[in-house]
Amino acid sequence: EKGGFEHFMLKEIHEQPLTLRKTMLDRINKENDVVFEGLDLTPADFDKIYIIGCGTAYHAGLIGKNVIEKLTRIPVEVDIASEFRYRDPIVNDKSLVIVVSQSGETADTLAALQESHRRGAKVLAITNVPSSTIARDADYVVPTMAGPEIAVASTKAYTAQLITFYLLGIYLAQEKGTLDDLYRVSLVQALKELPMQVENILDDAYELKLFAQSIKNKKNLFFIGRGLDFAVALEGSLKLKEISYIHSEAYAAGELKHGSLALVEEGTPIIALITQQDLYEKTVSNIKEVKARGADVMGITLEVNVDLFNVVDEVCFIPKTNALFTPILSVVPLQLISYYTSLALGNDIDKPRNLAKSVTVE
Ligand code: F6R
Repeated sequence: EKGGFEHFMLKEIHEQPLTLRKTMLDRINKENDVVFEGLDLTPADFDKIYIIGCGTAYHAGLIGKNVIEKLTRIPVEVDIASEFRYRDPIVNDKSLVIVVSQSGETADTLAALQESHRRGAKVLAITNVPSSTIARDADYVVPTMAGPEIAVASTKAYTAQLITFYLLGIYLAQEKGTLDDLYRVSLVQALKELPMQVENILDDAYELKLFAQSIKNKKNLFFIGRGLDFAVALEGSLKLKEISYIHSEAYAAGELKHGSLALVEEGTPIIALITQQDLYEKTVSNIKEVKARGADVMGITLEVNVDLFNVVDEVCFIPKTNALFTPILSVVPLQLISYYTSLALGNDIDKPRNLAKSVTVE
């Protein structure tokens, strides 16, 4: 049942090229338009989009916000479901609420959906379980095709959520009429290359295993990045804590000197995500700040940035793609680092302590 893998988590990480392909299937036509059969969404009907989820689904939403705003110029807010419900959100019949849930059964996310309905909003669910309560209660359902996810730590569901947000963002921009044809075609072509690119990253995990060995006895670790890289940093940090039990935090790289830099000392491991070319120099200067305090830095960057070797201790390269799509690639090394760290520590990887796969209590 684990398909020859030692754990479900590793199997699910390796399924991603396939689950990404499945989630894109039938969503792109011959003309490279994005199609969502039966989704009669008119962007002009709403002036604001809310994205709501918990944990990893919330982290996918942070990427979704970035992508939808960039492509459609419609303002998007992202909320943690357990916060959204209690903050008297300004949601009304001009709002589109997108709830994200792998299981489709998370209590807080379901309650946020119901609260949105009470306030007159239409709700679209991105879920991996089309027969779930959230799918049943939503006005629109876009299924992720990740297949059953058994490991508590979410991997393939997250990347399926990301690719769904990319498709949805392109679709909404298309419907709004704001997407240049040539740009759309280049985006769609880049999307189609992602599964193969994930495969390439998976084929070469040797350095990541060594890195996992080097951090397994550390007490603290930090992830840093700007923009989309910060959103991925949050996911990487969550993944590492939930299965390795090592304390870690993710910081927006530019925020370090506003307080957290005080935590960096000789030998503190830092994983720096640096895939957004327009922010490259800015993040490099943040990396130099932590290096100057003795941090050991692993950089995750695009293959073109070979010069990062001059700044950090180790580099993990990811293939070139559109700047919006790097999260699907950069999260894969982070998933593997978490997995191999947990493995080195002898933890129960698929069933980490204190956690349940589906959180049906508030
Ligand atoms: C982390 C993880 C959790 C879930 C969260 C929401 O690896 O799996 O953070 O993402 O509990 O679950 P769903 O997506 O089922 O609503």
